[in-house]
Amino acid sequence: MPPGNLVLFVSEVFGVLKPFGRLKSGFWCMGQGCSSASPSVTHCRAMSSDHCAKFVHTKTRSSPYPRSDQNRQLFTDDLVKWDSDFPEYRPEEYTAPSVAKGPVWADPPADKLCSVKWNQVDGKVNRTSFTAQYQIVNSLPRNPIGRTGLTGRGLLGKWGPNHAADPIVTRWKVSSSGQVEKHPASGDPVLQFVAIKRGDTGEWAIPGGMVDAGETVSLTLKREFGEETMNSLLASPEEKKEIENNLAKLFSHGQEVYRGYVDDPRNTDNAWMETIAVNFHDEEGNSVARFNLQAGDDANAVAWMDVGSELRLFASHKHFLKKVAGLRKAHW
Ligand code: BGC
Repeated sequence: MPPGNLVLFVSEVFGVLKPFGRLKSGFWCMGQGCSSASPSVTHCRAMSSDHCAKFVHTKTRSSPYPRSDQNRQLFTDDLVKWDSDFPEYRPEEYTAPSVAKGPVWADPPADKLCSVKWNQVDGKVNRTSFTAQYQIVNSLPRNPIGRTGLTGRGLLGKWGPNHAADPIVTRWKVSSSGQVEKHPASGDPVLQFVAIKRGDTGEWAIPGGMVDAGETVSLTLKREFGEETMNSLLASPEEKKEIENNLAKLFSHGQEVYRGYVDDPRNTDNAWMETIAVNFHDEEGNSVARFNLQAGDDANAVAWMDVGSELRLFASHKHFLKKVAGLRKAHW
């Protein structure tokens, strides 16, 4: 298959891949419990609720709320935690019109939430949090990290945790002579990952997405990668077969680098994003590394992007890339 002229339509390709089924524990290696990105920012993840005590969300508190004129109540980092005294805290309530009109993926409004099973897998909806048990205050879930300056659900469909999955597909950067490039500053090999430019915020991001009701995370990872990064396939049946095999192989060997709360601008006091980020690495450069990527679905652009500390990405995605660089011993 000639590397340069592949344009993929992966809803077709992915449609014929065998489902991977549920992830087996121990198959993905677990990331670090918690690490500091700045003195005030520590990311928290599953089974480390102590760490969440230190984490202060910042992108979550940006105002106005995305795709709206709705302002958040603004306050300093020391007032984020619920146990800090803040009698003046009077956040407004906001639920975006797209959520308020009741699409299938959204929960009912607060006054119609009768039989919801908080902190549990509730039918097909996973209402458990990776952070710990969240509290229910005035009949609604409370953001486990702290105040956000806004109540309601904003753009998020579910009260409480909204689960996403982020496939981080990587390759080594190679020169025209085929050598892996070393970064002049660190001397470490340079990793590249598949990035998309998000249609909603215009920021570069990992091509992740929401876990649909009843869907396994492994399926979400594969589906989102296909929907967001690969637009059309101009390939012969033989080439398609080779692509299928390569992708199936690559997506069967993921390494988890993060699971937990995400500092996402859509979070509110009652609804927030959590994700599992998994690295799929093409070490030999003979699988997805050869793909000529084209934007699809709600992504505006797609590209192989160098991994390094200068990255500016959507939500907590830079933090996930730092974990991957550490895992692969790559330049950061
Ligand atoms: C995005 C994921 C992201 C998650 C949390 C989802 O909408 O597709 O890439 O990690 O939100 O911010």
